[in-house]
Amino acid sequence: MPTITIDGKLLEFEQGQLIIDVAHGNGVKIPHYCYHPSLSVVANCRICLAEVWAPNPHNENKLEPMPKLLPTCETHASEGQVVYTTSPKAIANQKAVMEMLLNHHPIDCPTCDQSGECDLQDFAYEYGRGVRRCDTEKITQSKKDIGDNIMLYGDRCIMCTRCVRFTDEITGTSELMIDGRGANECIDVFPGIGINNELSGNVIDICPVGAMLDKDFMFQQRVWLLKTAPSIDPLTSSGDNIIIEHNNNKVYRVKPRTNLEVNEYWITDEVRYGWKFVHDDSRNIEMKDDAEIIAADKLQQANAIALLVSPMISCEDAWLLGQLIRSLDDHAVIGIGPVPVEGEDKTFKSGFTLRSEKAPNARGVQRALGDVLNYDEWKKQMARADTVVVTGNYPVRWDTPVMSDSQTLILIDTLANGLTERADAFVPAATWAEKSGTFENWDNMLQLFERAIYPLGDAQAEGQIAMNLQALVDDMESTVFNPATVRRRMADAGIAGMLEVELPKNTNRVVTDMPLSEV
Ligand code: SF4
Ligand code: FES
Repeated sequence: MPTITIDGKLLEFEQGQLIIDVAHGNGVKIPHYCYHPSLSVVANCRICLAEVWAPNPHNENKLEPMPKLLPTCETHASEGQVVYTTSPKAIANQKAVMEMLLNHHPIDCPTCDQSGECDLQDFAYEYGRGVRRCDTEKITQSKKDIGDNIMLYGDRCIMCTRCVRFTDEITGTSELMIDGRGANECIDVFPGIGINNELSGNVIDICPVGAMLDKDFMFQQRVWLLKTAPSIDPLTSSGDNIIIEHNNNKVYRVKPRTNLEVNEYWITDEVRYGWKFVHDDSRNIEMKDDAEIIAADKLQQANAIALLVSPMISCEDAWLLGQLIRSLDDHAVIGIGPVPVEGEDKTFKSGFTLRSEKAPNARGVQRALGDVLNYDEWKKQMARADTVVVTGNYPVRWDTPVMSDSQTLILIDTLANGLTERADAFVPAATWAEKSGTFENWDNMLQLFERAIYPLGDAQAEGQIAMNLQALVDDMESTVFNPATVRRRMADAGIAGMLEVELPKNTNRVVTDMPLSEV
């Protein structure tokens, strides 16, 4: 394999790799703004420039310096190159770039949402000069509402053009453009056309400074107070990898988690903003009248049971519910809840696809329960059961099945729905953010998601509820639901794939280097 030396480290690389990629892949930091691994190279910010020496074949392969500093985001690695990002010339360039960028920057970090996750702030600290020598007036630019979810703070923009390239190259929608020239150029939308495509929120993430801000998150939290949990899209069959950011047991933001095999760097706005049902006012989180005891009693008295397992719940939850009901009725009518589909899959210019199937785990529920009835068939056959167990966990009020008055209903759900008042026992369920488990996506990939916040009120994972009911039926102490143990039991029961679940990658856990004090 060819090798290159970067800041004294001898590193192997593959032909065609950029110097910056070789460095980042081996833990060598090179500051960068305009570069993004998924976008075309423009090399316009100039902060990644380094001193490069290369063997000269016309001079017995002796190492010779390139006449100028080279952009590492544009220069391919080649055999025998020696790169210095911390030489006096490279450092002088970094300081000059930072000084130039800060000349017209408002330096309003105390009120800027990006503070704490801002490359301009971090690089000013690491590579900046610390003084402003320019005494000209700062150029000011306006704040603009450029879409349903995005506010543009033009003053803070450093013209890296990542956002423009995103709408050109990833979504192919081209809503953003560069307007004006020289010192007056700015990012803008075309008159009357906002940036409202289904992936628009990603420009907030890729903006390296606080220019593109999320209206939904604006002024909600300082980012250094947020804790993170790696998770999976709970709303569609995409299996997109996400990070849930939360504080004081409240979710504040959902962002993409990089997984090049699934969603690369992106998520849809549907997933980014679709978590609000977790804290919805219409959520039932109170367990009234010993509902679990009543439910266990009704199940024990039942002659024939029907179970509806929602495609919104995890494989582990589904399997435990199935085990409970089958232990009470060998011939139970078991079916999968409605799997919502909206239109057709939509594939964007880059190949990223928005899934029309609006449930995260229809395949996983079938894997966990084996051959189960689809919703229509279940609705027909459940009429012969005297006791019906229904699970929901949909992000919106859903189209519940119609029960006869003589049937006993045990409802395990999150939001209020048409059956809530009718239920003989209502047991509040936890949303995906409040539990761990596994979802199987459209491509049959089984991926683990971790709990972000503790269950609200009396809510519990459906798996825990199944274990509690089983313990009540068996007159034993209930134990704590542990998805990893359940997966092992599922594997022992012959369910394929449960021990090869994909564990979360790229969890972005940052350990702060500053002491935090509570005020
Ligand atoms: S708004 Fe952000 S992403 Fe867009 S050009 Fe300015 S700094 Fe770059
Ligand atoms: S990151 Fe290389 S020039 Fe901008």
